[in-house]
Amino acid sequence: MTTGEGSLAPKKRSRSAPGRQDWASWPHYDGAATGFRGYWYPVTWSSHVTDKPQPFTICGEKITLIRDGGTAYALHNRCPHRGVPLSEGNQQFPGTVSCPYHGWTFDLPTGKLAAVITDGPECRLTGKVGVQTYAVEERLGMVWVYIPLADEAPHPIDEQLPEELVDNAFVMGGRIEPRGGNWRFACENGFDEGHAKYLHRTALWRLFKPMPTWNITRIVPRGRWLFRVQDEVHWEADFPGVGRWSNKRWWKMQPPKETFNIGNTGAADSINPTIEAQDFPGFASLSMPGVLRIVYPNFIHYEFYVPVDADHHNYVGVMVNFTEGLQTLGFYAKYLGAIRWLFHGQFSGQDAWMVDVTDAPPEKLYRPDISLTAWRNLSEEEYGKKLAAAGADAPAESAPAKNPPAENAPAESAPAENAPAESAPAESAPAESAPAKNPPAKNPPAENARAEKEA
Ligand code: FES
Ligand code: FE
Repeated sequence: MTTGEGSLAPKKRSRSAPGRQDWASWPHYDGAATGFRGYWYPVTWSSHVTDKPQPFTICGEKITLIRDGGTAYALHNRCPHRGVPLSEGNQQFPGTVSCPYHGWTFDLPTGKLAAVITDGPECRLTGKVGVQTYAVEERLGMVWVYIPLADEAPHPIDEQLPEELVDNAFVMGGRIEPRGGNWRFACENGFDEGHAKYLHRTALWRLFKPMPTWNITRIVPRGRWLFRVQDEVHWEADFPGVGRWSNKRWWKMQPPKETFNIGNTGAADSINPTIEAQDFPGFASLSMPGVLRIVYPNFIHYEFYVPVDADHHNYVGVMVNFTEGLQTLGFYAKYLGAIRWLFHGQFSGQDAWMVDVTDAPPEKLYRPDISLTAWRNLSEEEYGKKLAAAGADAPAESAPAKNPPAENAPAESAPAENAPAESAPAESAPAESAPAKNPPAKNPPAENARAEKEA
């Protein structure tokens, strides 16, 4: 088959190579492989932070968490003497942590060198060197750390939490799970309009509930959130030359006739008053720096995508029920008996699988990917504002294209925002942990859910 110079010689790749070759349209997003700095991130369950220092990596930053006198502290996890992780050490004095190698001892609130055990009380380095400390808060039963852009003061964490979790009483269950794949793939998967109805059609969580075939969805911004608003839900379709496709089955419930935007299986008889009061325009919403909210009539599921490094993230899934008193028992029973295994387990595992094997760019986006491009546009804009406020320079790359459309997105006219409707809870959820009680308080109950720490 070999020939000389001729017709079979490899052709130069034409520039008609399909799709988007890179993420240059979103330079901040493209550069955020290890996460957006300047935000709070949940690290681990509060109950797991004790007087024994433990190691974590967030946004590529190695930190150690330790609790002293009831307060959690975060320090850079590297002794400036010879680079040994402070998480290998322990406490020799109250309010400090000591490196295991030569006993350099650091003050927890300030990170300053408080004593050097093996150099005696007159050590001249005392007070002159130290390690970086990080702002710490506790919410939702978890310890959150602020990863700074530079040396700015952190914004209040409550400004970053879903608004309804700041003042309302609730119970929750959740899971923190180290997963493979870049955090952006996890975040995009969570808000991805097209995947749930196909990928999750086999989930046990959907065993008795059909998933739509395709939807028409709009992306609606409100405040710092983007909402997916479903305008049309199609439960079956004839594909020319291929055949008919539907997820309807004889053993599943009949699909609802109307289109709705709370929950995903039909209009609810009643909606929890706290949830109803939020007047959410759609059941799936997303905000910086990667917070997903999926609203059902009687509970809300959240996902926080926490960057670890370019190839790993922590999946933090939380199921919240806005109830108090005896009704919390019903939530615990439901969570521990079903949700934890079906939704936060197998269903969410399908997402983990996809996130781990996604490899983009290049990519050829299609109409439902308006959910992805809208999120990238939002993050680009929000992060640009944050950098400007911090006086940081924008990335060298050119300015972001404004609202880059999904590749196959219908021209302007088409529902710029069409997106899915109805579909199933596209979003995965964690499982595992056990519920926490009214966690929004500043010092959430340690008895929260649990989590697995990074390895
Ligand atoms: Fe930490 Fe020597 S390396 S005290
Ligand atoms: Fe999903």
